[in-house]
Amino acid sequence: MTSEYFVVRGTVEHGDERGRELGFPTANIALRDQSGSIGDGVWAGWVRRADGTHLPAAISVGRRPTYYGADGYRLLEAHILDFKGDLYDETLVVWLGAHLREQQKYSSAEDLITALKNDIAAATQWTAAHPAASLPAAGESELGEVRRVEA
Ligand SMILES: Cc1cc2nc3c(=O)[nH]c(=O)nc-3n(C[C@H](O)[C@H](O)[C@H](O)COP(=O)(O)O)c2cc1C
Repeated sequence: MTSEYFVVRGTVEHGDERGRELGFPTANIALRDQSGSIGDGVWAGWVRRADGTHLPAAISVGRRPTYYGADGYRLLEAHILDFKGDLYDETLVVWLGAHLREQQKYSSAEDLITALKNDIAAATQWTAAHPAASLPAAGESELGEVRRVEA
């Protein structure tokens, strides 16, 4: 059976640190194409660090409508599961493996946190069932460019 992934390579930028305040820090990566070859949404996937290690993640692609309305800048944000550390300025490769849900505008930080906990539970399950060893090769791409690859 073939499975489809979207792959993005990018350098981690400094965000506005709200993720840290919420208790869910994210590695933020700018996307080249603001209209997007993939839609906005939340995904389970894997992140590969510069040193070649793979880390499981819950990943958001979108404009953070809870905080920026519909006009926000579109970016990829990876919350790495069970990770404490600094990824700023590191170039990562991100595999988006399973689409979990659409982006939503939440009426409170508490509602967003509840959703994030569910996303993390789903991403934990998906990455356990789809280990990094089974990922397709990332191939070559420009920073911030979204590519579709098959395993
Ligand atoms: C798994 C995941 C799912 C997310 N889902 C949403 C969402 O549905 N709506 C939204 O407004 N923001 C969503 N976000 C983005 C958060 O609003 C964002 O991470 C937070 O505001 C921190 O932003 P910062 O990194 O710029 O500080 C999601 C983030 C992650 C990691």
